[in-house]
Parts: sequence; structure tokens; C-alpha cells
Amino acid sequence: MRILYSWPAISRLLVIVGMLSFASLHAQQSVDASQSTTVPSASPNSSPGYGLFATNCAACHGADGRGGERATDIATVSEVQQLSNGELIGIVRNGISGTGMPAFGSLEPQKVKVLVDYLRFLQGKGAVVQLPGDVHAGELLFFGKAQCSTCHMVNGKGGFIASDLSLYGSHETADQIRGVITDPKNKLPARSNATTVVTRSGKKVTGIVKSNDNFSIALQTLDGSFQLFQKFDLKQIDMESRSLMPVNYGSLFNSNELNDLISYLLSVGTKNASHVAKKHPRSDDDDDDLKSN
Ligand code: HEC
Ligand code: HEC
Repeated sequence: MRILYSWPAISRLLVIVGMLSFASLHAQQSVDASQSTTVPSASPNSSPGYGLFATNCAACHGADGRGGERATDIATVSEVQQLSNGELIGIVRNGISGTGMPAFGSLEPQKVKVLVDYLRFLQGKGAVVQLPGDVHAGELLFFGKAQCSTCHMVNGKGGFIASDLSLYGSHETADQIRGVITDPKNKLPARSNATTVVTRSGKKVTGIVKSNDNFSIALQTLDGSFQLFQKFDLKQIDMESRSLMPVNYGSLFNSNELNDLISYLLSVGTKNASHVAKKHPRSDDDDDDLKSN
């Protein structure tokens, strides 16, 4: 991850020194594997998030986040699951006044992010690492074969007839995203359904209603253009039972491809949310933070 704040030279130096010593440690290990007694295991208990949570949060919320004597469950309660990463970061940074939830203002932003990721892991959601999908393959699908980008935008690229998905993955679970992709007809709200109009001359146009009054209706069609119709020119106006989102992705893609797509949306959403969260508490000095991602 790129850090755009200007670090004091000394900490850069420390990082370099750290990398060098890691590299030499690594070299030693490959020379003589029998000496390598400190190879980290891949179990979640050894993850940095586990350590940070155990030190800072577990005393009150329990080691598994499911509540303790001094604070409530933050792992399985759906109101907490539904908080965005940005909101969780805010809670950890600022605490909640009037409750026993302290502010962890002195924790580095990177550590807070690791903590929130770990909390997501405990909640069993948004945990990109848990999903066996490949983020990069998912990105290629999104902008390529799956053609999601004909309608949706992510980070400024793509179409704009449907919603921008840059932050979508920061507040939805993998299951919810899978549901929308494979079954949009049932999982998308009816208000996003498409509308078809038929003119008196028999022309049929399908799109999304952008305005509708007694005399006229405006549709945005798949090519992104707007078309305005006078109602006296129309024979028929039909609200479709589905949105413009294709309904056959579930059969078009195998489960690996779906996992890739979902992993991509989760990963890009989480990344963007942490940029936003980083940006908000410091309002004026890091304006270029978002533009350069
Ligand atoms: C000293 C005890 C204490 C510690 C330590 C603590 N919390 Fe809390 N936390 C609370 C209390 C009390 C609340 C208010 C809700 C409740 O009654 O449990 C709360 C609320 C929260 C909420 C909001 C829950 C909701 O219902 O909206 C989140 C999220 C949270 N804590 C996360 C954390 C994280 C992450 C850490 C570690 C960085 C942490 N807390 C450390 C006591 C604590
Ligand atoms: C032909 C246009 C079109 C294509 C292609 C398309 N979608 Fe959609 N999608 C929509 C519309 C329309 C909606 C519902 C309204 C909205 O989100 O603007 C929607 C909704 C969604 C939502 C829910 C958004 C929300 O805010 O609730 C997700 C997630 C989504 N699409 C993902 C995808 C993915 C992933 C792909 C590619 C596999 C894809 N879409 C392809 C048109 C499309």
C-alpha cells in the first residue's frame, strides 16, 4: 500500500533498514533452513490484526468480539456489521462519548485499518483474504468479458447508467454481492427497474427513468444518452419487472469467476473506504490523496 504522507526521513531509513535485515534473514534461512525457528505460521492467530485486537479491544469486547463483561458484541450484531469501514475507523479513532468506548487516537491509521479488517474477519464479512477469489482476475473480468463497466463505474472508469461501485464492497458482504450479480431480478430494489415506452409510431425504447411528470418522461438508455418523450406521443409506458442489469451472470460464469469478481469489488471498496476515512479527519492538507489512487 502506498503511503502518501511525507514521512520524516528517519522513518524511511528505519523501513529500509528493516527491509534489509528482513532480506538478509531471509537469505540466511534459505541457506540453512534448519536455523529458521521463527518462521511465522499462517494461522489467523499470528496475524497482526489478532495481536492488535487482543491488546486493545479484547478486554472489553471479548477475544472473539462477541462481547464481554464491559462491552457488547461487535462481531455478530448486524447493526455493527452494517457500519461502513469508514464509520468503524471513526469509532476506533474517536471513541463514543457517553459510553465506555475509549478513543484510540494515538494508534497509527495503518494499525486502525488492520484492526478494522480483523474485526471484519471476526464478523465473517468483507474478509477478502477468506474468499478464494483473485482480485486482479476479477478486475479484468469487470472491465472485460463480464462487461460490468458498460454500465458501472469504478474509480472513474466505466459507464454511468448504473450506480458507481467504487465503494460498494466496503459496505456489502460477499454473499450480498453474489446475490445481486447472480439474481438481480430478486435482489435489486424495484425502484431500479427499467422502463419501456412505446411511441405512437411503434418505436420502443428501454431505459432508466430520469424524470417523469404529467406531460413528459425522460429515459436514459444503455448508450448513456437521454431521450425525452412527450406523453401525448406515447402509446404505452411499462415498468419492467427487472433492472437493466443482465440476469444471466449466474449461468455465464463459474464459481471461480464469480469469486474473482466479488473479491475485486470487496477489495477496491475497502481500499477506497480507507482512503475516504483517511481524508476526512484531516480536511485540508492531503487533498491529493484521493486523486492519485
Ligand atoms: C474499555 C472498554 C473498551 C475497549 C478497550 C474497547 N471498547 Fe469498543 N466499546 C466499548 C463500549 C462500552 C461500547 C459501547 C457499546 C456497549 O455498551 O458495548 C463500545 C462500542 C464499540 C463499537 C460500536 C458498537 C455499536 O453497537 O455501535 C465498536 C465498533 C467498538 N466498540 C469497537 C472497538 C474496537 C475495535 C476496540 C479496540 C480498538 C474497542 N472497541 C475497544 C468499550 C470498549
Ligand atoms: C446493462 C447494464 C448493466 C450491466 C452490464 C451490469 N449491471 Fe449491475 N446494475 C445495473 C443496474 C441498472 C442496476 C440497478 C440500479 C443501479 O445500481 O444503478 C445494477 C445494480 C448492480 C449492483 C447493486 C448496486 C447497488 O447500489 O445496489 C451491483 C453490485 C452490480 N450491479 C454489479 C454488477 C457487476 C459485478 C456486473 C458485471 C458482472 C454488472 N453489475 C453488470 C446495470 C448493469
